Amino acid sequence: MTRQVRAAGIWGLGMAVPERILTNADLERMVDTTDEWITTRTGIKERRIAAEDEATSDLATRAGKLALREAGVAAEDLDLVIVATVTPDMNFPATACIVQMRLGATNAAVFDLSAGCSGFVYALDIAARTVESGAYHRVLVIGADVLSRITDWTDRSTCVLFGDGAGAAVVGPVEHGRGLLATDLGAVGAEGHFLTLPAGGSRKPASLETVEGKEHYIHMQGNEVYKFAVRVMGETVQRALKKCDLAPEDMDVFVPHQANIRIIDAACKRLGISRDKVFVNVHAYGNTSAASVPMALYEAFREGRIDDGDIVALVGFGAGLTWASAILRWGR
Ligand code: UT7
Repeated sequence: MTRQVRAAGIWGLGMAVPERILTNADLERMVDTTDEWITTRTGIKERRIAAEDEATSDLATRAGKLALREAGVAAEDLDLVIVATVTPDMNFPATACIVQMRLGATNAAVFDLSAGCSGFVYALDIAARTVESGAYHRVLVIGADVLSRITDWTDRSTCVLFGDGAGAAVVGPVEHGRGLLATDLGAVGAEGHFLTLPAGGSRKPASLETVEGKEHYIHMQGNEVYKFAVRVMGETVQRALKKCDLAPEDMDVFVPHQANIRIIDAACKRLGISRDKVFVNVHAYGNTSAASVPMALYEAFREGRIDDGDIVALVGFGAGLTWASAILRWGR
């Protein structure tokens, strides 16, 4: 939808990753793979892996604190905290409740949002709408995942792809014409079975059988998700741009979900945008799920790639299967 009422945008960004680095060479010693295969098929060279005592809320809290500091907002002034994640600390309470406590965001309503790797952009859209409507003034949006906990480290087709991390943004009112200009969210539930964590929910509660059957790990038909991603990324960005009367050539910075360099290249080709406008950090972190887009946005901004007034496009795709894109004019 296009935005009409009060404008909402990003006031500050944050990110957090675990210290431990797992390289492709490390993976060569764990499963039947090679640095050459991983690099050419995905673009990934290394990823971060959470320590044993490090959970999603720990990374989310660190990223959230940094975003609050950058935005100049006190935790107690937050009205809402949304944590997008598929790896909550536990089934309930929501990870957002744990983050709220850790930050001291005592006046905030809180909830988790599950939209896989599209989660951050989904949450950003909702956050902006609450600000635009005047209902809320300061919202903390976090995308955080510790996929290493649900990765089958004996399955070479998935374990080389993922990493852990968190990214955060404080959303608040901005000058008219800035902030979120348009978004486009959606899902194809009928294709959801291509990327699942089958057990541990009400359909298949945890049992000896589900553990033995490795049903508490990511199950993915990578090539199907690949096809979906290449198709929807271009389409959703085109739709979002159209809603705010912009064209692909108007984009200054393109920040796509960092799943696979080949998917990013294919999306750029479909959109007809040159690689120098695209921010890529997949080589350093792998696919960090809901954290991927905000981590890339954070690094793009820190590296001086985004200037005031720039048109920035964010796009994610993932479990659901979902997609989400957002077009912003940078600045407050
Ligand atoms: O955030 C959303 C989450 N998911 C994604 O973004 C995943 C999207 N999909 C992809 O990125 C790609 O499909 C993959 C990177 C997962 C796989 O790349 P691909 O080019 O689609 O490879 P493939 O699955 O068609 O496998 C090609 C071959 C197979 O061998 P055979 O059957 O041709 O002999 C695999 O067994 O590569 C083999 N293979 C590997 N070889 C070495 C699969 N994984 C590995 C590996 N190392 N780690």
